[in-house]
Amino acid sequence: MPLPIIEPFRIKSVEPIRRTSREERRRILEDAKYNLFNVHARDVLIDLLTDSGTSAMSNRQWAALMLGDESYAGSESFYRLKGIVDRVTGLPLLIPTHQGRAAEKILFQILGGPGRVFLSNTFFDTTRANIEFAGSAAIDCVSPEAADLESEAPFKGNIDLEKMEAMLSEHGDRVAACILTVTNNSSGGQPVSLENIREARAILDRHGVPLYLDSCRFAENAYFIKLREPGYAEKTPLEIAREMFSLAEGATFSGKKDALANMGGFLALRDASLADQARNILTITEGFPTYGGMSGRDLDAMAAGLEEVLDEDYLEYRIASTAWTARGIRAHGVPIVNPPGGHAVYVNATAWLDHLKPEQLPGQALVNGLYEHFGIRTVEIGTVMFGRRDPATGRLIPAARDLVRFAIPRRVYTQTHMEYVVEAMGELAGIRHSLPGYRPVTLPEFLPHFTAEFEPIA
Ligand code: F0G
Repeated sequence: MPLPIIEPFRIKSVEPIRRTSREERRRILEDAKYNLFNVHARDVLIDLLTDSGTSAMSNRQWAALMLGDESYAGSESFYRLKGIVDRVTGLPLLIPTHQGRAAEKILFQILGGPGRVFLSNTFFDTTRANIEFAGSAAIDCVSPEAADLESEAPFKGNIDLEKMEAMLSEHGDRVAACILTVTNNSSGGQPVSLENIREARAILDRHGVPLYLDSCRFAENAYFIKLREPGYAEKTPLEIAREMFSLAEGATFSGKKDALANMGGFLALRDASLADQARNILTITEGFPTYGGMSGRDLDAMAAGLEEVLDEDYLEYRIASTAWTARGIRAHGVPIVNPPGGHAVYVNATAWLDHLKPEQLPGQALVNGLYEHFGIRTVEIGTVMFGRRDPATGRLIPAARDLVRFAIPRRVYTQTHMEYVVEAMGELAGIRHSLPGYRPVTLPEFLPHFTAEFEPIA
């Protein structure tokens, strides 16, 4: 047996987690209107709701907090963050924001507006919401390989270059930008290849349309490129990341993912006049340009995390531990998105809960079933999250399929915790046809998954 890839850290501080009974969880679910975003975290045993803002910081990051310079203007923390962002992205103009969506709000307020069109491999929900909120249209052009959940294609996060080009021709001058989400969160956490980024850039150049990266999980994407793309095995994750960013006009970033921080984000740009406009909005809505939406200590924690995340031992463990969880779940006969993504395992709830019709929300059914039976919190990525509605009836239009995302917080859970999750799925396999479907009771217009209320279908 080869030696296992171990967690490349030891634990210095622990946070207890609390068991609850199935009876308690049944009541909690009912009180939460069958939406796990309403459940108190103390009532969750293993929380796989998101990998965002949930990382365990290192001793180095905690030490960096004490170095935080809380000066209103010219904070040293800003310049330390700028140093590492320069080194990783090569993008010279840094606009710090309190999280990723704040960077999106600024960028799309400037580039967007009524009648404008944005293209992407797949927009994340906040990105789409910010674009639509500014009156523009957001069009996904994900590679057709992504639709085949069984396919082991290495870069299923890629943009479909043909569809992108067709959209460029169809919408002409109205296309404001293309946003490549790396890795592609809403499409299974799948990576995008450098070849695809390069080819997209060449096509966009011919149409005079800029390319931006939604770079939340850039380090995981870089490591997949190292593992899977010919010619990159000998390159470091930092070198690969630099090459990815070199092809972009700018990037939005959430420090809550691949900066191993609990809060933070930025917009990084090349164009000075765009950066001036962004700083104006930043100053009005977030804060002065050298702190944006963050305290000095948060800037420092993010700077330290950005260095750590590119460590090869860390990335090897990160990708291997997600794959280990995916293999375990798949071994119980559960259909998942193959190959597993970087930050999460995605289960095809529509296929697995085949006693439910799509409009009975099989994704929501699996999420609620996993919580009720095992205290595990996951999230639906499907009909509810995408929230597309029939304009005539106001009813939800079923997504092509409901996935359930098991997002794995960085450096937080041990292999035994993940073994609990794997075996819980094994037990659920036997009783899955007893899980009820759901119908929405209230359904807000934007980002419905956060606050929608449901009831089980008898
Ligand atoms: N882009 C992507 C690809 C994301 O996954 C997220 C957040 C954002 C942008 C927005 O960043 O949360 O800092 O404002 N994703 C989280 C998730 C919420 O659970 O996947 P944010």
